[in-house]
Amino acid sequence: MRLCDFRNEPYADFSKPENAEPMRAALAAVRAEFGKEYDLRIGDAHHRTGDLLKSINPSQPGEVVGLHHKATPELANQAIAVADAYFPVWAAVPAADRIASLRKASAILRRRKLEFDAWLVYEAGKSWAEAEADVSEAIDFCDYYALLAERLASPESLVQLPGEHDEMRYLPLGVGIVIPPWNFPLAILVGMTTAALVTGNTVVVKPSSDTPTIAAKFAEVLDEAGFPPHSFTLMVGSGAEVGDLLITHPRTRFISFTGSREVGLRINELAAKTAPGQIWIKRVIAEMGGKDGIIVDEEADLDDAVQGVLWSAYGYQGQKCSACSRAIVSEKLYDSFLEKLVAKVKDIKVGPSDDPAYYMGPVINERSMKSILDYAEVGRQEGRVLTGGERLPGDGYFVAPTVIADIDVKSRIFQEEIFGPVLGVTKARDFDHALELANATDYGLTGAVYTNNPEKIAKAKEQFFVGNLYINRKCTGAMVGAHPFGGFNMSGTDSKAGGPDYLLWFVQAKSIAQKM
Ligand code: SER
Repeated sequence: MRLCDFRNEPYADFSKPENAEPMRAALAAVRAEFGKEYDLRIGDAHHRTGDLLKSINPSQPGEVVGLHHKATPELANQAIAVADAYFPVWAAVPAADRIASLRKASAILRRRKLEFDAWLVYEAGKSWAEAEADVSEAIDFCDYYALLAERLASPESLVQLPGEHDEMRYLPLGVGIVIPPWNFPLAILVGMTTAALVTGNTVVVKPSSDTPTIAAKFAEVLDEAGFPPHSFTLMVGSGAEVGDLLITHPRTRFISFTGSREVGLRINELAAKTAPGQIWIKRVIAEMGGKDGIIVDEEADLDDAVQGVLWSAYGYQGQKCSACSRAIVSEKLYDSFLEKLVAKVKDIKVGPSDDPAYYMGPVINERSMKSILDYAEVGRQEGRVLTGGERLPGDGYFVAPTVIADIDVKSRIFQEEIFGPVLGVTKARDFDHALELANATDYGLTGAVYTNNPEKIAKAKEQFFVGNLYINRKCTGAMVGAHPFGGFNMSGTDSKAGGPDYLLWFVQAKSIAQKM
């Protein structure tokens, strides 16, 4: 299959009773598994350390979703030793076999789709629709990386010098540490892990402490799909206790990380130090934050723009690195934009994510809720809070969708990633000024422009400095194969997950010239 013929996994439409009913059944089935204990498997050995990480339902924090035995530093060392010893075996497995296992993993995920949706609803606080998009993207990553792995396995067509056979092969790197985030706890975990495995690396995966159960469920999928137990370890544990050890270990060859800028930069620094006995430069693949802006030009369709900003800013409570947190609006329609937007934001229903009546669910945890509410306070000093800015009733971590107008380019609300349902709105004199404002950030992940003027569109394509630019549409929801995802500057290494070159991050190329 050609890459351009790849098709994304379709989403279930939950407004139809024939989809909603099985989803309710899946929620009930998953709920019946709440509070289960998950041990730590390294190779064939199962460990119960007794030091338990408790993951909870952010819609109802009294509910324990899963209990996970945390790794000790000694077990982290063991996991690296197992991955290191098994690497030559796994690297020698024919690529076709690894690809077949990946296709099997995709089929299992498809079969268990509603179950995974339900875990995402309960452990990550995703709405049904957001959960469905996450699981669909996980399936896409498996299918797309299987295709890419096939391409990498067949020889490159090279220039053939007279009297020689010239070829290039792709070799896996070694032991990788995979550190995925909680906000796409299945899709990004699956993408990062399977890209490393299908290319012949062995991995230690350290999931977020907020979403370990989803990771444990995916480990079951890898097992069933035929990935040998020694090829991957799922390791729950704290960053300080085991994270740093995994990153700095001399046998670690690469680190694939998605998360905050702060943690990403720290990993980069730690990985840059050469440990005694280490014989390579560690590779860091880092997808970090965003401070993504949508430009609403005076020549835009205003209703479309309002809807696009709404989806981009408040989908999954704004907890996406791709989320719109800055609307940069032409002064000619600034007031009418705000009026229309605020009316719609006030209509957003916030509540427990297992109830499909609510567009927004809880934010991920208490710390995050406090940080978002602190930013709302900052917003009161720096601008005009037009709606939101407070916690909403209920046991869950519910934060009101918030709009803060008249935000200056130098303000914290304009510059700092909030990772919650908080939108700052800034007035632009003209399109050039809007572009200047949009680029006035350390980040460069996503951005969108709403305008019907082709010259302005052309200018944005040239000058809007982001890894993912969208024209007249929302700036979230990158689709595998169509929107390779990754950003510039402090948004990371622009590694373009779901793009044709992604697997190259997990291999090294060997050129061979043979005299004939
Ligand atoms: N890929 C996601 C999006 O585009 C963010 O990680 O929304």
